[in-house]
Amino acid sequence: MPAIETIVAAALNIGPDRLTDELAYQSIPEWDSFAHVQLMLTLETKLGVIITNDLMLELNSLMAIKDYAASVREPMPLASVAASEPAHGPLESKTFNVHRGLTGVIFDHSTITEIDAEYGRLSYRGYDVNDLATHASFEETVALLLDGELPDAPRLERFNRELANLRALPSSIIDLLAVMKHAHPMAALRTAVSALSVQHSAKTNQLNTAGAGLRLIAQVPTLIAAHHALRSDRNPTAPDPALSHAQDFLRMLLGRDSSPELSRLIDQDLIVHADHSSNASAFAARVAIGSGADVHAAVTAGLAVFAGPLHGGAVEAVLQQIDQVGRPEHAAAFVRERLRQNQPVMGFGHRVYRGEDPRVRHFRHTAYQMSERTGNTTSFNIVEALVAAMQPCLRLGIGPNVDLYAGLVYRLMGLPDDLACAIFAAGRMPGFVAHILEQHTNNILIRPLLHYNGPSRRTLIPLQQRQTMTSVGV
Ligand code: COA
Repeated sequence: MPAIETIVAAALNIGPDRLTDELAYQSIPEWDSFAHVQLMLTLETKLGVIITNDLMLELNSLMAIKDYAASVREPMPLASVAASEPAHGPLESKTFNVHRGLTGVIFDHSTITEIDAEYGRLSYRGYDVNDLATHASFEETVALLLDGELPDAPRLERFNRELANLRALPSSIIDLLAVMKHAHPMAALRTAVSALSVQHSAKTNQLNTAGAGLRLIAQVPTLIAAHHALRSDRNPTAPDPALSHAQDFLRMLLGRDSSPELSRLIDQDLIVHADHSSNASAFAARVAIGSGADVHAAVTAGLAVFAGPLHGGAVEAVLQQIDQVGRPEHAAAFVRERLRQNQPVMGFGHRVYRGEDPRVRHFRHTAYQMSERTGNTTSFNIVEALVAAMQPCLRLGIGPNVDLYAGLVYRLMGLPDDLACAIFAAGRMPGFVAHILEQHTNNILIRPLLHYNGPSRRTLIPLQQRQTMTSVGV
């Protein structure tokens, strides 16, 4: 194997004369964040190791990389966090791994959703998501996620009716939405979902987790649409149980009937959004139900996490980014500047996928269709120009994700950008409920550990004897 210096020089594309003891991440322009990822990938291949995110942060200088390479050649406990002086107790005497961000941690079994990150495939209960979007309805997908099997025709008919009849909201919740008319749609949705627990006594909510979950799946579109109507100074449109979930959602959002083609587009979007395994929000919902909290609390927790811009909130951030870029020919400079500032380009990258996010195919196609249909192609062309500019990052595993095209579809339908995350969340509802039910049925309290690396145990000095502090560290 070549010397480690040769590997580093080749990965950073610099001459061996520049390999000084001071060489460190970001000490030279060639060793930027992307070169760092590339260097780590090269080290993985050459040394036959897996470099975790934590380790990637530690390997930030030539010296650190040389020490690490030497330790790999003479193996020692990997990424061990050994006892520090003085010893505090039994934990510190152990060797253990810290998984920051729970990266790569498998915390339970699940029969709901399989993500094949290597081949970019996503399936619910064994069915490919793109097949479901092509051949099934959202209601069939909900039944599949909740029951574990696709429904036959009589079961689907009963299920459609049951779900459609649960859409209405109590008038007290409409009043609450009116109070929140200036709030962001995700803040209003999260608060209203929590408030909807007034429909159930604490006991029924606990006892009928599945029933409460199904009702929430039905009510969330009504909540989003009612809040949107109120902030648009019109009366909320009442749900129509004769219509499909997607058709009624779009009708209530727009305050008028829409075409069957647009309803079907929304229907397919909701299917593709329906679940994504143990992402941050589904995990939060599982943590909540695992503690014995009720369904409304668990969905509220899920929605709170979902709204973050690194997660579901990215769908709106992408739309803002499109406006910031302004024109396709500005995309390359925009990307260069973001990367120079070490800022993420929204709509790219994923904790799980290193190849293509399988959901992109559907949304790219739909966004293209919508931009052709409306003759408004600028936003789509900006996104495509961003993809072209991000091409070098693809080989580092940073590719387009679901959020890149999803929001565009809603913008092209004439919906305001700040509704994009809420529409995505309406699609994610059956996923939340399926995870809540799975956790509930075979529950264990979810309670990971933190490795304490704060001050050693110390003696408390009574206030009167403490010296005046000149500065306070937080
Ligand atoms: N643009 C530019 N660089 C990116 C990037 C992006 N969208 N996503 C990841 N990277 C870079 C990081 O800066 C990091 O480089 P560094 O080691 O030099 O710091 C490296 O790739 C690893 O990324 P990291 O953030 O550690 O990976 P992660 O798995 O924790 O992050 C996301 C996943 C989703 C948080 C991240 O890709 C991101 O912020 N994307 C933009 C937001 C987004 O679209 N979210 C929706 C996800 S569906």
